[in-house]
Amino acid sequence: MRPLFITFEGTEGGGKSTQIALLAARLRATGRAVRVLREPGGTPIGEEIRHTLKHSLDNAAMTAEAELLLMNASRAQLVREVIRPALAAGETVLCDRFYDSTTAYQGYGRELDLPTVQRIIDFAVGETRPDLTLLLHVPLEVSEARRRLRQEQLQLLQEPPHPSAHAKLPFDEPLRDRMEEADRSFFERVDRGFAAIAAAEPERVRWIDATQSVPAVQAAVWRWVEPLLS
Ligand code: TMP
Repeated sequence: MRPLFITFEGTEGGGKSTQIALLAARLRATGRAVRVLREPGGTPIGEEIRHTLKHSLDNAAMTAEAELLLMNASRAQLVREVIRPALAAGETVLCDRFYDSTTAYQGYGRELDLPTVQRIIDFAVGETRPDLTLLLHVPLEVSEARRRLRQEQLQLLQEPPHPSAHAKLPFDEPLRDRMEEADRSFFERVDRGFAAIAAAEPERVRWIDATQSVPAVQAAVWRWVEPLLS
């Protein structure tokens, strides 16, 4: 079977995890072996880097340059340890974020020099490029609401433990997240970054309105994936 590498991108609150799970199930039903990954992370080394980037209590002083390099260190490991071997074995790889997130967050969001960001991405991934990228877009207000909800839940967790509060949390990582502590203008720039990426590579990057219902987004995803299967 032709190997396929599909990435999902977009700001918080677009329902990426839900759509990845739905697509993985649908592809498996067609007999494909499917590997679901996430960035940063996806390998033991990458998960440690993810912790440093997002949750470590000692990461507040991280510079934008260190953030860029850590994102790509995790990526370099994931590409060689998992993605290339999986594709070589004919698997379909679905990745929750890949290098477009670096362009959007570190390039546009943190305002690092875009050609430098691109050179570092190129070094990290080499020839390993997605066949298709699905950009699940929601307006800024939707991602903001999602981040606010998480912050409120974090405060809940800092109060004396109440087992039912833990049990009700809808997220698998109820931890402080440094990436979510940036201000509104940062996320506006990230959003503009994703729009610029979609405009620059319209054949690879498909923009999907993720404010639609879950089945409608699922149908839009399938519309772009299905032609690649034969
Ligand atoms: P998430 O897995 O919950 O989406 O968290 C990943 C965070 O890391 C999210 O805020 C986006 C950010 N990120 C970057 O800033 N650059 C990158 O290259 C990647 C992959 C993620």
